[in-house]
Amino acid sequence: MQIQHNIALKKYNTFGLDVVAKHFVTINSLEDLLEVLELETYKEKFIIGGGSNMLLTKNINALVMHINIKGITITRETENHVYVKANAGENWHEFVQWTLNHDFGGLENMSLIPGNVGTSPIQNIGAYGVELKDYFVSCQALNLKTLKLETFTKDICNFGYRNSIFKNEVKGQYVITNVVFKLTKNNHKLHTNYGAIQTQLEIMGVNTPTIKEVSKAVIAIRESKLPNPKEIGNSGSFFKNPIISLEEFEKLKENFPKVPSYKVSESQVKVPAGWLIETAGFKGKTFGNYGVHKKQALVLVNYGGAKGEDILNLSKLIQKTIYRIFKISIEAEVNII
Ligand code: EPU
Repeated sequence: MQIQHNIALKKYNTFGLDVVAKHFVTINSLEDLLEVLELETYKEKFIIGGGSNMLLTKNINALVMHINIKGITITRETENHVYVKANAGENWHEFVQWTLNHDFGGLENMSLIPGNVGTSPIQNIGAYGVELKDYFVSCQALNLKTLKLETFTKDICNFGYRNSIFKNEVKGQYVITNVVFKLTKNNHKLHTNYGAIQTQLEIMGVNTPTIKEVSKAVIAIRESKLPNPKEIGNSGSFFKNPIISLEEFEKLKENFPKVPSYKVSESQVKVPAGWLIETAGFKGKTFGNYGVHKKQALVLVNYGGAKGEDILNLSKLIQKTIYRIFKISIEAEVNII
């Protein structure tokens, strides 16, 4: 374990923002983690996993701990299910592929989501009708104050739409070290109701898909509209889809009859922020070296060399414009640092 100084974080965040960490260390094991946390020298710590859900607007004047603890193990098996523990530093998509290669079902709809396993519970990642919480059993996290490991079971985690206890009550107080999932070994439950998945499977000529084929369909859909962070810096959906009351929705529909929506409860609907942003005229707009992605308006992009501050200002302009036109507040999904 080696502590480095003045390290560029460009390759550690998917937006590709060129900020500097005053101190930097890669954590390869639980022992490394404990050793670093016991150091008196560095009071301020900043944790980075896959760096896929953050907008870095300034240099980090702290010790950046890059969590790189690897390892996947089967912890328990029953006739129909398997419990798989993945360490925090595993790349999410590679982990999903590992489960599919073992014919373990559950995570296939979440193929190709950027980021690492350890940060996946923080915002309860999700895609195409499936959320992490649907297959999550528990996670282990190190309490930064007591330096003791604690287990967070699903009910404690308070999962919601792109939300959990780790974004609220215990924000910044823990480092997640591993996550346990309960997956199916047979009779896999497929989630193919999502329109785009159906269409993609038809294109692929698949009638009775396997979990691997569902994954392939998801990968094809994502690749067709979400930019690959290795080519264009981005952080996936920049905003959450706003949830509004049925009453507000009815009013909105009077002026915008085509507004799409998903029912959340008897009294609430979710409106796609991507539609609001596109309707407000931002889709595909570029401002020099950053802008709004041309195929998916929910994604802000860094074409190379942009500053986090610029992207933050663009996001504020979008929020203000959306409010002015639709009277709806949209909230950032990414963490702004
Ligand atoms: N839409 C537009 N214009 C756009 C984009 C979207 O009009 O530019 C409208 C369309 O009507 C479309 C609807 O929005 O039917 C929904 O779009 P899409 O299915 O692409 O999903 P999304 O709501 O934009 C969410 C997640 C994604 C996830 C997809 C698929 C959020 C904030 N985003 O996006 O998650 O992959 O559904 O399930 O909930 C992420 O969190 O980083 C992410 C990519």
